[in-house]
Formats: sequence, C-alpha cells, structure tokens
Amino acid sequence: MPASSPWWLLGAGAMGRLFAARLSVARPVCLIGRRDAPNVLHYRDPSGVDHALDVPCCTLTSLAVSDPTPPGLVVLATKSHDTQTALDALSAHVDARTPLLLLQNGFRVQPIVTRQWLGPVLCASTTEGAYVESAPDGGTCVVHAGTGVTWIGDLDHAWPDLAHGVVEALTAAGMRAQVDDDIAQRLWHKLAVNAAINPLVARHRIRNGQLRDRPFRRMVDALIDEIGPLIEGQGVEPPAAGWSALIWQVIEATADNRASMLQDVLAGRPTEREAILGPLRDAARRQQRSTPSLDALYRDTPS
Ligand SMILES: NC(=O)c1ccc[n+]([C@@H]2O[C@H](COP(=O)([O-])OP(=O)(O)OC[C@H]3O[C@@H](n4cnc5c(N)ncnc54)[C@H](OP(=O)(O)O)[C@@H]3O)[C@@H](O)[C@H]2O)c1
Repeated sequence: MPASSPWWLLGAGAMGRLFAARLSVARPVCLIGRRDAPNVLHYRDPSGVDHALDVPCCTLTSLAVSDPTPPGLVVLATKSHDTQTALDALSAHVDARTPLLLLQNGFRVQPIVTRQWLGPVLCASTTEGAYVESAPDGGTCVVHAGTGVTWIGDLDHAWPDLAHGVVEALTAAGMRAQVDDDIAQRLWHKLAVNAAINPLVARHRIRNGQLRDRPFRRMVDALIDEIGPLIEGQGVEPPAAGWSALIWQVIEATADNRASMLQDVLAGRPTEREAILGPLRDAARRQQRSTPSLDALYRDTPS
C-alpha cells in the first residue's frame, strides 16, 4: 500500500482521532467529522505529553471541494449504530471499490458491510483505548488512555495481502498491529467479554471490578452460561481457557475501569446495545435456545 495515498478516518471521535494522530506521522490522513474543524488535532500520548498535530479535519462535503485525491483506505470510526448512515454518505464521495477498515465493537456491522460494499472490507479488533476530553480553552483533546494491539482481517479470508499492507502501515506509524486469519473468532470473543460486562455495569452504574461482588457475580456467571454455548453454536471455537476464565480475567484486569457503555449512559448518549447483544439474540433465535438472562439484560439495557 503506497505511503503517499491518503487514508480517511470517518468519525472524528475517540478512535478516529487516535488513529489520525498516530497515522499522521507516517502518511497523509484526513479526519472527517460531521462539522468542519480547525486543522489541528490535540493528542495526549500514553505518557501524558500533549501534542498539537497538523491534521486536516473536514467534512465529506468540504473535502470534496478542497482535495479531490481519492483515499487509499477509509477507516470507519463511528459507533456501530451510526456506521450505516456514515457509509451511505461516504458512498457518494468515493469509488465503490475503495478498501474499508471497520473499527466497531460487536458483530453487527461487520457481516452487513462485508456483504454490501463492493470493495474489500477489513475488520479490526483493537485493545487500544482512547477518549475525548474537553480542554480549558474550550477545545478538545484525544487522550490515548491505553496502548494495545490491533488485529486485522476480513470475514471471507479474501484480502490477506491488503490486511498485511494495513498492518505494515499501522506498524510504520508506531502502532502494534497483527494480521488475524480468524478475525470473526476474535470479534466474537471480544463480544462475549463486552456482553458479560458492559450492559451490567452500565445498568448498575458500577466499575467493572464490582462485578466480582454480590449480587453481580452470579449474574455474570448466568450470562456466561448462556453466551458461551450460543457463540459456539455459531461455529466459533471457545477460548483455550474457556469462556468463564476469559471473562473473569478481563474483569480482574479492568477492575478500576468505567466501561464505555457506562460512560455513554452517564452522558445520555445512545449505547452499542444492538451491536453487542443483538448478534447473541439473533444466534439464540436461529439455534432455538432459551436465554432468560440475556433477554432480561437486553430489556434492562438503555439503547
Ligand atoms: N474508544 C475506545 O477506546 C474504543 C476501543 C475499542 C473499540 N472502540 C469502538 O470503536 C468505535 C468508535 O468508538 P469511539 O469511542 O471512537 O466513539 P465516539 O467517540 O463516540 O466517536 C464516534 C464519532 O463518530 C461520529 N459520527 C457519527 N456519525 C457520523 C457520520 N454520519 N459521519 C461522520 N461522523 C459521524 C460522531 O460524531 P458526533 O461527535 O458528531 O456525534 C463521533 O465523533 C465503537 O464501535 C467502539 O465500540 C472504541
């Protein structure tokens, strides 16, 4: 993938800004939001140092006027529930064979966009962590809260060279990235973790570690008993240590964290309930399994 072709980051939230900030050291990028913004991106690196980066920040409409260079790749960095609208808007501005990279959590948009988009669709599962913070001067800054690894692959195993090219580009920008030959499995495993943790902590407004205490511990265990068989029923291998070990180990490791779904609830924003619980409910219907704990969780989780 030529380092000269620009990458577009569609969605100027936490992940779009994080990827724009990191990639901008190695290649041309453009951060595309819903509103025009100054061409400076404030980025706080994991050691707490602030950087003001020269990054074009525009809308799809203003970009079409200011720079007609077609993108080599478009990274979709919206929340799952906004992805279809963003993609519809994008379609009017790029060649239909432009490669896409999806950053969304869950397993909702990935199969839909893969079927729908004419060009290659790569999916990412990332353990990078970022959030947007207001600055005293009224501006905003993306905080790189935790470094992680980004795994890349496509659901049909059709684009291995492209996946390798994207991993090389992320690596050249100083990010840790790897090709994953079974990205669907990785996305389902992460979905299992998110489904067992995020809706419960969002509903009860607690930190992840409080799930270890009564009465939440048995709620998590009841969810794990339903989630594991459902995902295996989709043909996905279980984690080597088992579902329970995977999920409880993440709860331990993130005990002090406030999950993103909790932050969305506290801020009155829509949650990614459909992206995380929707695929499990669809699997339950297909497999004709009764899932009382998941059903109650879905009903009680703000959308
Ligand atoms: N943040 C993390 O640490 C993290 C880690 C792993 C995975 N993820 C996943 O990455 C995805 C993005 O998360 P995030 O935290 O970056 O969310 P976010 O901060 O809410 O950012 C999403 C951005 O998308 C923009 N947007 C929505 N619709 C759009 C459209 N039609 N055109 C252009 N922009 C549009 C929103 O604009 P407005 O501001 O105008 O609403 C917002 O700035 C989610 O699926 C999340 O689960 C996040």
